Amino acid sequence: MRLIITLFTAFTFISAQAGKAYTVIANPGEKAAHCIRINWHSDIDEKKMYCYYTECNDTDWINTKKVRPKQKLCTAYDSMYSKTSTGENIYENARFMRNTVEIKKLTPNTKYMYRIGDKPEEGEIRYFKTAPEKCTWTAAIISDFHAYTPLPKRVKSAMSMLSQLETQNKSDFDMILHVGDIIAWGGSYSFWKDLYEEPFFKKYMWAGLNGNHDNMDRTNKKNSNNFFRYANNNPQNGYNGEKGVCYHFTYGDALFIMLNNESMRSDEGLAKAQKWVKEVINKQKDTKFIIVMEHYQWFFGTDGKTSQYDRWKDIFDECSVDLAIAANNHIYARTNALYKGEETDGSRGTVYLQMPSSDNERGQELKDWTHNKDIIKYRWSEGAKTVGAMLMKASDNELLLTLYDRNGNAIDSVIVKAKQR
Ligand SMILES: [Fe+2]
Repeated sequence: MRLIITLFTAFTFISAQAGKAYTVIANPGEKAAHCIRINWHSDIDEKKMYCYYTECNDTDWINTKKVRPKQKLCTAYDSMYSKTSTGENIYENARFMRNTVEIKKLTPNTKYMYRIGDKPEEGEIRYFKTAPEKCTWTAAIISDFHAYTPLPKRVKSAMSMLSQLETQNKSDFDMILHVGDIIAWGGSYSFWKDLYEEPFFKKYMWAGLNGNHDNMDRTNKKNSNNFFRYANNNPQNGYNGEKGVCYHFTYGDALFIMLNNESMRSDEGLAKAQKWVKEVINKQKDTKFIIVMEHYQWFFGTDGKTSQYDRWKDIFDECSVDLAIAANNHIYARTNALYKGEETDGSRGTVYLQMPSSDNERGQELKDWTHNKDIIKYRWSEGAKTVGAMLMKASDNELLLTLYDRNGNAIDSVIVKAKQR
């Protein structure tokens, strides 16, 4: 009897809380200058909800437009073994409606505000900015902060790092990119919901990808790319089984291709992803910058040993990929432009870089640099308590990427030159 009572009390209702819309995020449309995609969740009986939006300079919401979402019952996170913020073991009861809207025909390079509710004056005001069609833009890049509600300092460290990047940028960014592992256990719904309440999720459009932690549940037995998929509303232009997880979008003069490592563990899975990457690049020849992002590291930052670099370098050479961004290793590592395994003057080849962690907890120490000393230009880690992130500034001729530490020290930078295709 006591066991039954314990199990009952441990079964916590996550979704039935105040606030009609939760886990709200703005993601890019395929053409991010004109299109944005918003995801939010609501209680099952909350049928009448809309997204209201207007340009930020329409301060009285005179020209507000209203969009009805597509609604679908989501049970992907239901009954997952998890933890509360106080460390109690629970099975999360997370059944809710997933709401998605795709807003098209937006004005490029424009800041918008939006609200979610059944009336235009209801709901918290959130923001996104559309991409410029050409010219300059700035993105923050952050990774591996493993949001975990029993240890809120992880998210706090990452969000402070984003504040530091705003300070260094001397103004807002145009968007935030993440390279995965933003959640400790993607199957724990309360972790996503809690994270998305952070002001940076209300202020910016986020474009991210699925890391191994976002893909796993606490038991590591019910892993799924649905956890990442249903906490976002990404473009539906990925390949079979990866729609809404793998995707591509154009932002200014750049084409971004976002990959999912969890579906590329086998040779067959890798071949499928590489076929898709080639097709996407071949269709879009007019972009100045081709940027491919995946979670797993190009090199093991500890000693420089080759990791995913070997699996991708020939494709990147063939497709003229300019910049390859990864993470996972929790150690920053960066090359200059490489072509056929050798450094170039930057007029051809791919710059490989991998992000450090940003949670002040799960970093790792550098060891003796014994491998790839000819191609890796820089490594950086603060050990277990690492916090770092990057600013990427795009101009007509180049991308300038700078790594900062939590104190605003510029640690390393690299230029990716624009190519004529
Ligand atoms: Fe990680």
